[in-house]
Amino acid sequence: MTDSSTVIEKLKSVRDPELHQDIVSLNMVRDVSVEAGKLNLSLILTTPACPLRETIENDVNEALKEFDDISEISIDWGADVRSTNRPDGPEPIKGVRNVIAVASNKGGVGKSTVAVNLALALSRAGARTGILDADITGPNLPTMLGIDEGLQSTGESGLRPVDSHGLKVVSLGFVLPAGTPVVWRGPMIGSGVRQLLHDVDWGELDYLIVDLPPGTSDASMSMAQDALIAGAVIVSTPSKVAVEDAQKAVGMFDRLGVPVFGVIENMRGEVFGSGGAEAAADDLGLEFLGHIPLAANIREAGDNGDPLDNDDLEIEELFSGIAEQVAARCSVLQFAGEGATI
Ligand SMILES: Nc1ncnc2c1ncn2[C@@H]1O[C@H](COP(=O)(O)OP(=O)(O)OP(=O)(O)O)[C@@H](O)[C@H]1O
Ligand SMILES: [Mg+2]
Repeated sequence: MTDSSTVIEKLKSVRDPELHQDIVSLNMVRDVSVEAGKLNLSLILTTPACPLRETIENDVNEALKEFDDISEISIDWGADVRSTNRPDGPEPIKGVRNVIAVASNKGGVGKSTVAVNLALALSRAGARTGILDADITGPNLPTMLGIDEGLQSTGESGLRPVDSHGLKVVSLGFVLPAGTPVVWRGPMIGSGVRQLLHDVDWGELDYLIVDLPPGTSDASMSMAQDALIAGAVIVSTPSKVAVEDAQKAVGMFDRLGVPVFGVIENMRGEVFGSGGAEAAADDLGLEFLGHIPLAANIREAGDNGDPLDNDDLEIEELFSGIAEQVAARCSVLQFAGEGATI
């Protein structure tokens, strides 16, 4: 008779393809029970946006095939996103497990668009997600998400983010009266960003996406020193200068000790061509996380402040694919060299 311990023993042969450890020692397998030929188990992934769910499911089914007395397998999927942990790094943000920065050296390549859609895709997958607009020079998220209210004070627990499209949103735009010319100087930008990171009551978040201003500005620099960042994603258009730009951004994060998860190619199409950023990622030895086409409805969705209204499943799927790659990089980095359990 097959029992739960036989099943667990057998599942030690199934490895997480990216974390390179077996799913039992990763503590992914829980609540195993066998009753009247039916096997119930929970599989707890390192992210709800796991690109390998199907592979793991197939491998589990394959491994358990030899047990003739099990006629049915029922898997209850869950996810437990771990926190970035770098003992010598800056202070983590309370309640926030992973901060992911979206950056590029160039303006207007689609950082904010990618940041919003990446956050929405993580949220669609079931992750608790927030987004911080750290662009002091031109905060765009309130417009892109159609938000017209600012931060709300909750007294004791600090400032409360705005809930929008399932995301917890905070923008430097909230603290600047509309239309004020931005005259904050370096140190003030630093303290503004620090305050937004640490004084906001984010609640519990699996991922906080930070939309950075272009370049190696004060905001990016101070942020990387003020909060523990899990990793950065670089957005680039497919044009030839993509290599140079990606290189500069990577250089900045290297100096700051922030891992780079990879490169996203945005605005692929006839105007900017395609493949430049992908080749750049290759040249730089970085992961290519996916591409987004140049599409009128992406711009319209951003302008209208209703990003879910683009009615374009194909594009939504592309962003979901990118979100899975980013979440996977995050999990892999957390496990690298650690051999830790969830
Ligand atoms: N894939 C796309 N297809 C069509 N339009 C896009 C796409 N990505 C971004 N855009 C549009 O391009 C413009 C610039 O995008 P966005 O503001 O996201 O860039 P950015 O890199 O954040 O700019 P900045 O450097 O000023 O912060 C916006 O009008 C946006 O709607
Ligand atoms: Mg922007």
